[in-house]
Amino acid sequence: MRAISQLSLFDFEINDEKIIVPPIKCQGIKTKLVPFIKEHVSVPENGTWIEPFMGTGVVTFNLAPKKAILTDKNQHLINFYKGIQNGTITSTSARKFLEFHGKKLEVSGKDYYIQMRKEFNENSDPMYFLFLNRADFNGMIRFNSKGQFNVPFCQKPNRFSKAYITKICNQIANVSNIMKNKDWTFVCSNWQDTFDKAQKGDFIYIDPPYIGRDTSYVGEWPEEEAVSLAQYAHNTEASVCLSMWKENEFRTNNHLYDYWSDFKWFEQNHFYHIGGKEENRHPMIEILAIKS
Ligand SMILES: C[S@@+](CC[C@H](N)C(=O)[O-])C[C@H]1O[C@@H](n2cnc3c(N)ncnc32)[C@H](O)[C@@H]1O
Repeated sequence: MRAISQLSLFDFEINDEKIIVPPIKCQGIKTKLVPFIKEHVSVPENGTWIEPFMGTGVVTFNLAPKKAILTDKNQHLINFYKGIQNGTITSTSARKFLEFHGKKLEVSGKDYYIQMRKEFNENSDPMYFLFLNRADFNGMIRFNSKGQFNVPFCQKPNRFSKAYITKICNQIANVSNIMKNKDWTFVCSNWQDTFDKAQKGDFIYIDPPYIGRDTSYVGEWPEEEAVSLAQYAHNTEASVCLSMWKENEFRTNNHLYDYWSDFKWFEQNHFYHIGGKEENRHPMIEILAIKS
């Protein structure tokens, strides 16, 4: 079992390894699997690191490749990190924003959260996205069928304490530092378009939504899409690493056996802390399936 400790306001350490924690959270975030991924995945020396399901970016931030294509269907994630990359979002601007709106949240609680959520669904402002993500229920990201953010409030009006804001701002500063002098491109796109860019010598890390679960990150993840992803992964000339759950105490992931059994599997126990449903909080065996 790995030893996990919270080092300081912004550091996170697993077995003496310091982990960069991103300022955005999401269900299925791979923070605790970073050492496991680092152990088995190699960043290409001359090729491009490609992540078509970037999510919070935690895997790329910790592997720190020189050149990367980072994409996701969720434009808010992409816009947020583009903002950090081009300097429009900084730890200073985030502090100002979170302090201002955090005070209002303290006074009006849920009503203010709902107002911010309504405004975000009209203005798509990345700073609003950060505020909502860090004040919502379990750091979830979920949209309704009209594409509107619909996660409820965490029910903590004093959410944005000084220490919490500092923690978030440090996370922004850390991510900003890691991006410096790197050739990283953030694009909002479907995973197919990202796969089409991959060449021999590149490395594609894929962490798709779970089949048959109510993922609702951005739309559904049907079985046909999962099968199509397996076909792309087999056909590309690039190396591929798939992150996926293998089994828990209730279920086995048959899709993995049906479509990925020819890749080399490495496994580890994992426990998800983020997730709305109690049933999603059970330990899980996670695997990395690698084609090199
Ligand atoms: C399991 S999460 C990735 C988590 C990420 N590895 C992390 O640790 O933060 C899956 C991601 O896939 C994205 N996604 C869902 N459907 C997609 C699609 N069709 N094309 C591209 N990205 C998609 C979601 O927006 C979500 O960010």
